[in-house]
Amino acid sequence: DDDNVVTIAEMSPRDGLQNEKQPVDAETKITLVDRLSRCGLRYIEAGSFVSPKWVPQMADSEKVFAGIHRFSGTTYAALTPNLKGWEHAYQASADEVAVFASASESFSQRNLNCDVFTSLKRFASVVQAAKAANKKVRAYISCALDCPFEGPIAPETVGRLTAALLAMGCYQVSLGDTIGTGTPGRVRTLLRALQSVSKSHQLALHMHDTYGQAIANIYVGLEEGIRTLDASVGGLGGCPYAKGATGNVATEDVVYLLEREGLKHGIDLDMLIQTGDWISKQLGKPYNARAGKALQSR
Ligand code: HMG
Ligand code: MG
Repeated sequence: DDDNVVTIAEMSPRDGLQNEKQPVDAETKITLVDRLSRCGLRYIEAGSFVSPKWVPQMADSEKVFAGIHRFSGTTYAALTPNLKGWEHAYQASADEVAVFASASESFSQRNLNCDVFTSLKRFASVVQAAKAANKKVRAYISCALDCPFEGPIAPETVGRLTAALLAMGCYQVSLGDTIGTGTPGRVRTLLRALQSVSKSHQLALHMHDTYGQAIANIYVGLEEGIRTLDASVGGLGGCPYAKGATGNVATEDVVYLLEREGLKHGIDLDMLIQTGDWISKQLGKPYNARAGKALQSR
């Protein structure tokens, strides 16, 4: 039954690499996406169409989309902040796009160079264009628990923004713990506050693991009925506009959790570990997935 099935939205090609200081060539990104597809991941955020001046690492997303092998049944998504981004994503044949709002004004200014209200107007035009082209739009809310500049964010604020994004036509809102400071009790409080504006399938969790709380937060999410989880192989990543932020929760750790808890995920964990290890080596970084390292040393 459906309640037993969890979808992982794989973030590594986008959230995982966007903040990487050293250049990563398009070939490596393409190989990463292809390997992730072979692991069984069915939603892969393959790049973003944002200003290359703001995020140079994503400037070759068009090449990445042109080079990947598309598995049928797999969604290759792109981040788009505005209509210009949507147009590039459409030309690149992204299957879906995602807009990204912030629950705090300060973070919105840093990340999008505009206030939240203005960002919503831009997203509405992205949704309109995407709908006309028969493409779905996902949404993120950054700083859904805490903002690096403003501190704790009230669940009601996230509730209003979630309602606005769903009313606009986004099919799902992914709640971003951008700086990874969230803890399970607060995640539960937030999810319960959102029950009045959304169904659980309209929500996802996007947990950065900076404080080691991501798996605990995700477990609470599962208890509260959330069935879409964002994750990044090898725990790669961080946001350029959130100082000190580390990557999303490692996909390996999430798959291990799901496996042990008897939830269906459709992912080959061994292949995933090889992929996480491989991309970490490509970046000259230690392999950081806890479950991945543990299973490798068995
Ligand atoms: P702006 O400077 O205010 O934009 O930036 P503008 O509309 O004034 O345009 C300035 C220039 O950018 C123009 O070029 C535009 O054509 C160009 P110029 O005339 O100077 O040569 N431009 C674009 N180029 C390519 N693609 C575009 C685009 N739009 C304008 N789409 C803007 C506003 C939104 C563009 C900028 O702030 C931006 O690109 N921000 C993106 C920041 C970003 O990517 N952040 C990381 C992703 S979000 C994240 O990681 C959080 C998340 O993971 C959830 C979580 O963890 O919380 C999702
Ligand atoms: Mg993120």
